[in-house]
Parts: sequence; structure tokens; C-alpha cells
Amino acid sequence: MMKVIKTSDGSTTLYREDIDETYHSRHGAVQEALHVFIENGLKKSTKNPLRIFEMGFGTGLNAFLTLQNAEKEVYYTGLELYPIALEIIEQTEYWKTLNCSKDDFLKLHKLPWEEYADLSPKFHLRKMEGDLNDFDLDEQFDLIYFDAFGPRVQGELWEKAILEKIVSRMNKEAIFVTYCAKGQVRRDLEELGLKMDRLPGPPGKREMLFGKLV
Ligand SMILES: C[S@@+](CC[C@H](N)C(=O)[O-])C[C@H]1O[C@@H](n2cnc3c(N)ncnc32)[C@H](O)[C@@H]1O
Repeated sequence: MMKVIKTSDGSTTLYREDIDETYHSRHGAVQEALHVFIENGLKKSTKNPLRIFEMGFGTGLNAFLTLQNAEKEVYYTGLELYPIALEIIEQTEYWKTLNCSKDDFLKLHKLPWEEYADLSPKFHLRKMEGDLNDFDLDEQFDLIYFDAFGPRVQGELWEKAILEKIVSRMNKEAIFVTYCAKGQVRRDLEELGLKMDRLPGPPGKREMLFGKLV
């Protein structure tokens, strides 16, 4: 059901055969994550400490890249409905493309769930198992990584009611980034009070969405 595949930048991603969907872009998993979430999310956020909410923790790739690139204190909450077994995470071999040791990468997967745990003195990670459809966010956030599977396979997670739940937990000036560029998502976020921009997308994708709560 789940396979590890190689993407165009040499990094791997997971592929779910049952829904014919990958966890990151086939055109470069690490490149996509760096472009969408790190360059256009983390690096554009000025808050310190910074509170991040990630929809879809998955392989932990976005979380690990955030750890490597953050120059500030970070409280990172990652929500995941289907936590991935460590044996599969090991097959991604992300440490080979992320310039870190295997132990460093696996550390984030070995931390406990449902509570903040220190991945480093300034990086506090809270992995939460749950379904966004009925999950109550219990904090306010400064940065949202919206990394659900695409609207083709998970249309309900991109609907306005779900986006509204997330926007209601964003601090003023908080940033929302996603790889998705769908017009309806952009218009819904605009109606919910975000100032939206269509930015150039990562390799293989024309655009991505960036929003700021004004
Ligand atoms: C595109 S992948 C995210 C990849 C991830 N950010 C990473 O760095 O590997 C989407 C993720 O959302 C998770 N997911 C799917 N439906 C969900 C739901 N209803 N609530 C929470 N997580 C969900 C999937 O299991 C998958 O891990």
C-alpha cells in the first residue's frame, strides 16, 4: 500500500497506491518542501518564538527542514491521522539528502506523541494523532504549513469550514502556506480574512498559495 519512490532531485517520497498520491512532489520532494514551507513560510515569519501548525506531519520531512533552517525558538505542532511505522521512515533514507546523521533524523520519530518534546534546546515538537475533520486546535499559531493530500483525493480537507477552523487559530499577521494553487481555496481564504498571493511554485508546479492574516 505504501512505497518509497525516488523523486527528481534525488530525494525520496512515499507513494500511497490506494489513492495514487505522493507525500511530496515527484519533481523533487526536498526541493518542494524547501521552496513552499521553508523559503516562503519559515523565512518570511518574523515572530520569535514562532508557533507552527502543520496539517499532515507524514514523514517529518517538513519538520526536520524547519529544525535545520530555524534561527529562532520554534514550537511545532504536527497533526497526523496515519502515523508512519519507523521501518518505513527508515526506508526514506532522508539523512542522505539532508546532510545529517540517520540518528538525527530518526530522533524526531522516536519522540513521544501528544506532548511537546525537545528536539533541540530551541525546537519543541508536538506530534498529535488525530483527524483534522474533528480536531480542536488548542493554541494560536503564527505559521501554518497546510500539507494535506491534494483536493483530488481529499476534497473535504480543503473546504471552507475546515480552513475557517484553522484561520480562527491564526494570530494576527500569521502566515498560511500550501503547495496547492486552487482558485477556490484562494478565494475561501481571502473571504476568511487573509491577504492572498499566488507565488511561483516549486519545480514542476506553476504556482503555490501564500496568505497573511490582516
Ligand atoms: C501530503 S502528505 C504530508 C507530508 C508531510 N508534511 C511530510 O513532510 O512528509 C499528507 C498527510 O496528511 C495525512 N492526513 C490525511 N488525512 C488526514 C486527516 N484527516 N487528518 C490529519 N492528517 C491527515 C496523511 O496521512 C499524510 O501524512
